[in-house]
Amino acid sequence: MDDRKATLRILCGHPVMDRDHQEIVRLLGRALQGLTRGLRREGVHLLIADLVSYLVDHFDREEGLMERSGYPEIEAHRAAHRGFLERVRGLQRQAADAEYPALSTQFYLMRDWLEEHVLGTDKATAAYLNAVA
Ligand SMILES: [Fe+2]
Ligand SMILES: [Fe+2]
Repeated sequence: MDDRKATLRILCGHPVMDRDHQEIVRLLGRALQGLTRGLRREGVHLLIADLVSYLVDHFDREEGLMERSGYPEIEAHRAAHRGFLERVRGLQRQAADAEYPALSTQFYLMRDWLEEHVLGTDKATAAYLNAVA
């Protein structure tokens, strides 16, 4: 998939959230590229660690926006973030032994999750944030 197209497709309509999402897509693409170019395990590990740390920051930022605006669906949204982080951390642990095809499949699944989350849950949240701003 073309990264530029993927980036353009996953806009939710809130400038702070959209900027973060584009960075997540970039980090995912970078990790995937590292895998396809046969980067050594330590290198892939570092790329996944960067992704996890950015995801933690992004989810905190997004949840902060929801808290400050009194968003009523915050708990469900927070639970979705937590579930995804657990999955990505699981992948981080597996990265030490998994082979390239299994890992790259996980990355594509993460990208699918992200797209679905941004276009569904995040978009609904962004509409609320924009309405109360
Ligand atoms: Fe979200
Ligand atoms: Fe988000």
